[in-house]
Amino acid sequence: MVSTPIESILNEHRSFAPPEDFVANAVINSQAEYERLYAQAQANPETFWAELAAKELHWFQAWDQVLDWQPPHAKWFVNGKINISYNCLDRHLTTWRKNKAALIWEGEPGDSRTYTYAQLHREVCQFANVLKQLGVTKGDVVGIYMPMIPEAAIAMLACARIGAPHSVVFGGFSAEALRDRLNDAQAKLVITADGGWRKDAIVPLKEQVDKALGSDLVPSVANVLVVQRTKQTIPMLPGRDHWWHDLQKGASADCPAEPMDSEDMLFVLYTSGSTGKPKGVVHTTGGYNLYTHMTTKWVFDLNDMDVYWCTADVGWITGHSYIVYGPLSNGATTLMYEGAPRASNPGCFWDVIEKYGVTIFYTAPTAIRAFIKMGEHLPQARDLSSLRLLGTVGEPINPEAWIWYHRIIGQERCPIVDTWWQTETGGHMITSLPGAIPAKPGSATKPFPGILADVVDLEGNPVADNDGGYLVVRYPWPGMMRTVYGDDDRFRRTYWEHIAPKDGKYVYFAGDGARRDEDGYFWVMGRVDDVISVSGHRLGTMEIESALVSHPSVAEAAVVGKPDPVKGEEIVAFVTLENNVNVDEDLIKTLKQHVVSEIGALARPGEIRFSDALPKTRSGKIMRRLLRSLAAGEEISGDTSTLEDRSVLDKLREGA
Ligand code: WT7
Repeated sequence: MVSTPIESILNEHRSFAPPEDFVANAVINSQAEYERLYAQAQANPETFWAELAAKELHWFQAWDQVLDWQPPHAKWFVNGKINISYNCLDRHLTTWRKNKAALIWEGEPGDSRTYTYAQLHREVCQFANVLKQLGVTKGDVVGIYMPMIPEAAIAMLACARIGAPHSVVFGGFSAEALRDRLNDAQAKLVITADGGWRKDAIVPLKEQVDKALGSDLVPSVANVLVVQRTKQTIPMLPGRDHWWHDLQKGASADCPAEPMDSEDMLFVLYTSGSTGKPKGVVHTTGGYNLYTHMTTKWVFDLNDMDVYWCTADVGWITGHSYIVYGPLSNGATTLMYEGAPRASNPGCFWDVIEKYGVTIFYTAPTAIRAFIKMGEHLPQARDLSSLRLLGTVGEPINPEAWIWYHRIIGQERCPIVDTWWQTETGGHMITSLPGAIPAKPGSATKPFPGILADVVDLEGNPVADNDGGYLVVRYPWPGMMRTVYGDDDRFRRTYWEHIAPKDGKYVYFAGDGARRDEDGYFWVMGRVDDVISVSGHRLGTMEIESALVSHPSVAEAAVVGKPDPVKGEEIVAFVTLENNVNVDEDLIKTLKQHVVSEIGALARPGEIRFSDALPKTRSGKIMRRLLRSLAAGEEISGDTSTLEDRSVLDKLREGA
């Protein structure tokens, strides 16, 4: 990492005030109210969080210290006793919510199920007893490798109920990736399914589990529980493999939630990062419960009429925090969808919104760019009038994609919350509150109350407004990760030592470049590992990519630097085009000129390459590291196990 901060070149000045109708019913309904909350939290974070913890959650026993901060280790609600499964289920059963829909599920083939809070509670209790019966006890790690079916949420909540930390591994990961993660966490048991539906085909999950475990490749795993979902014939190993439905049938529905210490581990979730071995991000119970509860409540402005849909997979932190724990802790109705837009039904998302009257829709910029490419006739053929709020997460959203989302999906009626956060942060960190903070397309706007975010140089000094720098957080928050599983040293090095602690004050470094504008809005410019250095100017990837995407011919773009003897680096752009656009010399000239007129000559790409797809992780992030190697004509090295579609790389190589 170089100490020169990042330069900002984006010119984006549009602003969208919260619509009046929305403000009228919003929980936090003015900028002044947001500022009041922010100031209150800043003045005394401990009191701020403690008051919310007491008011919003059930504790079996109160804490005796709000925060114990021994940098970089924080403990929240010390000696408090709590159970997140209790907060997500049991406490709603003594209210009218007992028979409210907790979980609505739609399968890809069109089957569906709905669980009320009472029904979900019963399933979770029974399954918790199944786990106990198989010898799982408090502190044992349980691996979950599942399709997007209700049993995934039931399994997570059952683990939480008995104090067995879960380690969910995304169902799209390979057997090798699964094996490494199970071994790293020393999982005792794995929960899976025969298969799941994705794009009209069966993903053979049990087959992958068999491969991962081999005859003794993961010695810690004694049992495998299998949900019957797709019903193809699969081998079951006697003694090790058990059908979920067989054991669930006979299990008692009486299973009181275990009072957990606030700092007991709730789960570990692996995040790949751009290099090296995946890190097991550890989250604990009390702080995470409070933080996901509050962010869900305020950022999504939840009320009891909402049907809330987050399109993420439970294999990602977004699924943990904003499909399962945050919504259920609030007593909301959360929708889970197994499928993905596919040739046989590219408009399936809009069908789901129409069918269930979804009011809040939360997805990723990569999905939005795919919707744009599929065409606006698809959403326009459905009734989307139930929607009142939209959200995005995962990467900076290109302003043009934001405008499309606002116009075509939100029909100019719905605010958009752009939520910046990370696996490591547990929940939203920089995000608008939809009834209080005007949106600027491409900006995640302002820090959530209690989050002391800043943009600094390498020495930790704040940079001037509109200058680029490193995005940091100056004070602990309840949802923060506690350590890297089994590697505390890596935790310290990765997040707390890049920016040198000053006067004993540690800051959390997120790995992103950002700038803050004159109105206090944060603009995330991408990962600092991806910065391109042209003639001494350090440029973030996001702004150049957004300029390209603002051209009508371009569907998606990724830019990387290629070593250049004169300029240091030259910009190479990888572009996918809208359907029916042909590549010729003129187009290349036009696109280069377009970047120049949007942001300046400095950002002119030296080279533009076209392809029908870009290499992405399974969570939709462009893998610029691989593109960098391609642009430089080098062999691809390092971990490619998180790549979504390997053939994309081969095609890009052939095209070179
Ligand atoms: C990285 C974290 C958080 C859940 C999904 C991804 C990027 C995420 C935004 C946003 C700009 C964003 C950052 C961050 N990112 N959301 N709204 N605006 N950038 O979780 O895999 O842990 O990735 O995603 O670079 O550091 P993750």
